[in-house]
Amino acid sequence: MAVAFSHVRVGILTGGGDCPGLNAVIRAIVRKGEQIHGDQLIGFLDAWDGVRERRTMPLDVSSLRGMLPRGGTLLGTRRGSPYDHPNGLEEVTATFRDMELDALIVIGGNGSLSVACKLYHELGLPLIGVPKTIDNDVVGTDVTFGFNTAVQIATDAIDRLHTTAESHDRVMVVEVMGRHSGWIATHAGIAGGATAILIPEQPFDIDEVCDLLRSRHERGRYASIVVVAEGAEPREGTMAGRDKVYDQFGHVRLGGVAETIAHAIEDRTGFETRMVLLGHIQRGGTPTAFDRVLSTRFGVAAMEAVHDKAWGHLVALHGSEIVRVPLAETVGRTRPVDLHLYRDVASVFFG
Ligand code: F6P
Repeated sequence: MAVAFSHVRVGILTGGGDCPGLNAVIRAIVRKGEQIHGDQLIGFLDAWDGVRERRTMPLDVSSLRGMLPRGGTLLGTRRGSPYDHPNGLEEVTATFRDMELDALIVIGGNGSLSVACKLYHELGLPLIGVPKTIDNDVVGTDVTFGFNTAVQIATDAIDRLHTTAESHDRVMVVEVMGRHSGWIATHAGIAGGATAILIPEQPFDIDEVCDLLRSRHERGRYASIVVVAEGAEPREGTMAGRDKVYDQFGHVRLGGVAETIAHAIEDRTGFETRMVLLGHIQRGGTPTAFDRVLSTRFGVAAMEAVHDKAWGHLVALHGSEIVRVPLAETVGRTRPVDLHLYRDVASVFFG
């Protein structure tokens, strides 16, 4: 068993897209580190850029007052990694050496955790990961913090859309986030009573969606909600896809599939159809109580992992327990939605 050590200097960064609960994790790390171990905590600004450029802010318990319910991240966040810069690895190593860092806690999604894993294996840096993303698609944990909040926001929106859809006898196509995985769509769709849910894991046939809507209308139900994850794709040959646009990191810029689907539904069925794109509203604002608790547990566990020198591990939720998972197990993979939940539960309510 690893020997615990005390009074360490620990860096923290938040990487990738923001999500509700980031500040709650930071607060928990700082609280556990400062009050229990007497550690010194340093926040790196703007993810890996702050590590390379040594842009930091001191973090202590008093400076984090009021941060538990606050959305976003007080450290700022960015995509990208030290590998994108010619001297990136040297700069990161020099920061560790010159700032006498004993550990760095990386709070991030698949991108940031992959970078952390690579840096740990290639440079032997003392890194611990904390899984975040509203998409809930990190392999190795049952849930990421931020997901529950996003589902609640999407569900609240769907509830509101029901009443306006009913008033006008309209079909509403609601687009939620979910690049590779339909977790938000499936959960919010079940919670919001969707007529159909379209997810990236299950290419859809627009004619089947229209059949569901027609059969519903034939039963006298004129208002319908179709929930679609931004990464959902039509089954090959069933409907023209949209042209792909890429961002500076080579990721497809998603958003807008609901518009294509809404037009296709209206054209095929003649039912008046509108679309709503929830977009970044799902990432903003205060975390739910569930996410505040999960973030707090992850933050405390990350600090315990630092003191156990469990480098190269991710803190994770398995059932109701917080565990440690090797970062290598999560890298290069995304966690698909539970297809049992989609096929055997959600679909019972389609149409
Ligand atoms: O955080 C993940 C995610 O929400 C994806 O679902 C989405 O495609 C992406 O972020 C969009 O992020 P941004 O607009 O910040 O690049």
